[in-house]
Amino acid sequence: MNIDWYPGHMKKARAQIVEGLPTIDLFIEVLDARLPASSANPLLERLRGDKPCIKVLNKNDLADPTVTKSWVRFFEKQHGVRAIPLDAKDRRDVGLLPKLCRKLVPGRGGKGERLLRVMVVGIPNVGKSTLINTLAGRKIARVGDKPAITTCPQQIDLRNGILLSDTPGLLWPVLEDPDGACRLAASGAIGDNAFDTTAVSLATVEYVAGKYPALLLHRYKLPELLETAILLLEEIGRRRGCLVSGGEVDLHRAAELFLRELRSGKLGRISLERPGKIAAAEVTADNK
Ligand code: G4P
Repeated sequence: MNIDWYPGHMKKARAQIVEGLPTIDLFIEVLDARLPASSANPLLERLRGDKPCIKVLNKNDLADPTVTKSWVRFFEKQHGVRAIPLDAKDRRDVGLLPKLCRKLVPGRGGKGERLLRVMVVGIPNVGKSTLINTLAGRKIARVGDKPAITTCPQQIDLRNGILLSDTPGLLWPVLEDPDGACRLAASGAIGDNAFDTTAVSLATVEYVAGKYPALLLHRYKLPELLETAILLLEEIGRRRGCLVSGGEVDLHRAAELFLRELRSGKLGRISLERPGKIAAAEVTADNK
């Protein structure tokens, strides 16, 4: 599968992070809990050196809790890394972060201490703006429905000893691996015009039928799982009235509907990849 993206932005992101590095005490890397590997940009790991990092597994409300636990264990084996699943819209979840930041950088951010400087990084659409808004308790960064909407550099004093730097910090998804790109597309992290909706939807239907069959059967009131992803998507389309004149199923509309419902959590909590098994067992571009 071919998904077009803008590699030129990577160079800029790299330059911005390198420039900000000397003043940063800690990184908060926002990942999508449903696909923590594919929503990460390896550039950060290469650049951060010894600086501590909190991996926020965001959109935890949409991810399979058991799989998310295994991601937390996976990340916490890495040097200087803590991982925390959360829902960036939930103030109680997000309220845990400042304490964790102070714990990871002793001597900063407390009473009478120097400000703790935190750079929030992540690919578009993982929820950075939402997280920053919740942390700040007010709307600061723009939250939108299209990837790449956060563009203006800004610093936000949380008035609790922590200074957030929003951008620079905008990384870009790496789309060299077609399976990872397919999962990113399924999650909504890539602009809808940049990929083949039907192909991504078919791959994802196949994956969900394999890993979460009960959720698929329940959501679409299917009596049984059909043999192929195409048959399943056609049946979903038929049941949801995605038809063209003559009664044929409009597969593209069915594909859009399925991805929309998956992304908004209507099927239930679904993770698209697990640590260590990504290539073998998860949504793959070849499933189509
Ligand atoms: P970004 O800055 O990293 O680009 O992401 P942003 O905060 O704009 O969030 C992208 C979308 O993800 C937004 O939805 C936002 O509401 C949603 N989102 C962020 N965090 C969470 C979370 O923890 N759980 C869930 N379920 N959704 C989350 P949107 O539909 O594009 O915008 P809106 O209509 O919700 O404002």
